[in-house]
Order: sequence, then structure tokens, then C-alpha cells
Amino acid sequence: AESTRELLLSRIRDVPDYPKPGVLFKDITPLLADPVAFTTLTDSLAELCVRHGATKIVGLEARGFILAAPVAVRAGLGFVPVRKAGKLPGATLGQAYELEYGTAEIEIHAEDLSADDRIMVIDDVLATGGTAEASLQLIRRAGAQVAGVSVLMELGFLAGRARLEAALRGAPLEAPITL
Ligand code: PRP
Ligand code: MG
Repeated sequence: AESTRELLLSRIRDVPDYPKPGVLFKDITPLLADPVAFTTLTDSLAELCVRHGATKIVGLEARGFILAAPVAVRAGLGFVPVRKAGKLPGATLGQAYELEYGTAEIEIHAEDLSADDRIMVIDDVLATGGTAEASLQLIRRAGAQVAGVSVLMELGFLAGRARLEAALRGAPLEAPITL
């Protein structure tokens, strides 16, 4: 039987020179369009959330939302969005982080997390790890615990795992696919 990894990998499309020359973009839209692959991924991420004792799911805007929301429903857990700065209406905590060129900022409604919560962060891709690292800093600052980070794909050559190590404090980084 085809392994979960092989099924998921077969539904990720390589797009050369996007968004700029020399970059090989990993497009997940074929996976999302295939109900068997999307359900397999959702079930697999939900199982990780349960295994690691998560009480809530944090999804990272924008592509992380597409994966994290069905995982939260499947696992029977609440969903809390981390959004790009300026999008959340309530009282927010914000965290700036470094991009390849310049900086970005993400925000969360801290009141949706509590000290008893163990948070699983879900995103599509771990590249340099900057986005995931900033989300872990937000979760810690909101006073919650970190159950782990789960992504569909880890781009190993960008060393995001090493960058995340300190912020994880021993919590797991899970990725069905490492490239
Ligand atoms: C992409 C991707 C991850 C992040 C990974 O998001 O979806 O969230 O970059 O990169 P990093 O590990 O180097 O931080 P992006 O901000 O491009 O946009 P989107 O999810 O809103 O499409
Ligand atoms: Mg993203």
C-alpha cells in the first residue's frame, strides 16, 4: 500500500522560479483538491495533536489556517488564529520576526489561551523557522504551554529545526515530509 508520505508527496506540485527566479515553490493546492489526500493529512495531523496532549490548535495565517481548522475539528479541539499584524480586532500580543528582507509581525488574541492550555502550532511549511519561532514566543508570552509544532513539510536545507530548538524547549517538531 502507498504510504501516507508517498501519497502526500505525490500531491505537492513543484513550481520552478516562483515567486522569484531560482526558487522551487512547493504548491499544496493539488493536495487540498484531492479529498483522499486532504483527509489523510488532516487525520494524520489530528492524531499527532492527540498523541502530544494538545488542548488547542494554533494555525498560522494564511496557508496554516487551511490545514489547522479541519485538524482542530477532527481532534475535537479549539482553534486559535495567529494573524498578520492589524487583522485581529481585540486585545492582541504581537511578535516581530526577521524575514529574508526586512521584518514581519504576527498577532494573537491572548485571552483565547490559558495557563492550562497545551498548544499545537500547525502550518504548511517550515522554511527558515522564523514564523513558527515567533508563534511559539507569542504562545509563551500568553502564558500557555507548547505541545509542539506540526507542519506538512519541513525544508531541511533551510535549518528551521535548529532555529526552533530553543523556543521548543524539548517539545516535538513533527513533519510527515522532509525535503
Ligand atoms: C510561508 C509558509 C510558512 C512560512 C514559512 O508563509 O506558509 O507560514 O512562509 O517560512 P519561514 O519558516 O521561513 O518563516 P507566507 O508568510 O509566505 O504566507 P502565507 O502562508 O500567508 O501564504
Ligand atoms: Mg504561511
